[in-house]
Amino acid sequence: MAHYAVRESPPLRGEIPISTSKNAVLPIMCGALLTSEDVRIENPPELTDVATLCSLFEACGCALHRERDALTIRADAFHVPKDEEDVRKMRASVLVLGPLLARLGEAHIPLPGGCAIGQRPIDQHLKGMSALGAKVACGHGGVTLTGRLRGAVIYLDMPSVGATENLIMAATLADGVTRIENAAKEPEIVDLAAFLCAMGARIAGAGTSTVVIEGVPSLHGTSWQPISDRAEAGTMACACAVTGGELLLRGARADHLRSLLFKLSEAGVHIRDTQSGLLVLGRAKQPFEIRTMVYPGFPTDLQAPMMAVACKTPGTSVFLETIFENRFMHAAELTRLGAHIRVENRVAVVEGTPYLTGAKVTATDLRAGAALIIAGLAAEGETTVCDEAGHIVRGYERIEEKLAAVGGCISRIA
Ligand code: UD1
Repeated sequence: MAHYAVRESPPLRGEIPISTSKNAVLPIMCGALLTSEDVRIENPPELTDVATLCSLFEACGCALHRERDALTIRADAFHVPKDEEDVRKMRASVLVLGPLLARLGEAHIPLPGGCAIGQRPIDQHLKGMSALGAKVACGHGGVTLTGRLRGAVIYLDMPSVGATENLIMAATLADGVTRIENAAKEPEIVDLAAFLCAMGARIAGAGTSTVVIEGVPSLHGTSWQPISDRAEAGTMACACAVTGGELLLRGARADHLRSLLFKLSEAGVHIRDTQSGLLVLGRAKQPFEIRTMVYPGFPTDLQAPMMAVACKTPGTSVFLETIFENRFMHAAELTRLGAHIRVENRVAVVEGTPYLTGAKVTATDLRAGAALIIAGLAAEGETTVCDEAGHIVRGYERIEEKLAAVGGCISRIA
């Protein structure tokens, strides 16, 4: 779909505006299905994942109004999705299950698609919906849920971000009180809960491992500015840590990125939290160890960008991926650029090298693609990052323009 030509770049200098968070916007868009009134989402990022969800909503009969800096969704008359293609395209479409069930008493989706970074089952979503009283029927590659929801106590076997979001949304309109235990604590969940409360929902404890939702009969419209994208901000901080220089990440929030900022500091990168965003100074000089964990641990979404940093950092860095079982696909591609990486199951050991050389590489998933672009900025000659599947545009808004504006030698080809 798109290729990126990347060349060795001087230290990055300047300012990068951080977009609105993809992982906050997608559930918030789904939350808009919980009311028949207008929901206005400010500054949604221009990403194919957002466009895919928009076309799914339109196919369900929702009215969408797009302006330059806002998206308004009205779900006054809508039905369950009939054409399954848009649902299949991305994992996040599973998040329509809760709102559809809560509003229509019925939901059907084919098993979702998305990045090939692991099996990514949805058993926790279904277990929770079933506890809320939904009848769950699986078959023919899809899942159908039916029934009227009532409050329940739900224990998640692992703190899944998507399951926590889906169940919070479903419970807002259920009869009675729902308690989700071992809930995920990611900032996007806190933002979703605040958005739902602005619609009249009653939710306490979002951002802790126990979330309590008191069902209400209906929700009303609202206007919401979702949080900034911590994955994009973190990726840009990694780019600076590879090339050196001085980057102001406008709108980035230190409180959402503490684990990354500690690791970058350990590596010798200077970080300043300013009123307008995060200031990142200098390149990584010392190796580091990373264990991906649920929030507030180190985010799995920044494991690949940090591996690109490790490739050029002197010494031995170690990565342990605990969230997804197949999230080291970028290691083989980075090796094509001359990186020294050994992968054993969920552990990757990186020996930093001063020399990377440009080559043709493939973006195997969204964050892997970003990692390859970052490494390409520090590789001698030209690196072509091939992204036939369009992973990068699913999650990074105009990454080539943003990097080029601060001195990165990168352009998008076709
Ligand atoms: C979200 C993010 C994604 C991020 C991930 C982990 C969005 C749109 N995507 O994905 O960028 O990488 O959190 O921080 O917000 N699991 C099960 N059963 C389930 C649900 C999950 O076994 O029912 C497993 C998954 O296979 C995975 C782990 O739990 O191994 C984490 O998944 P989850 O937290 O649900 O991630 P997503 O919500 O899909």
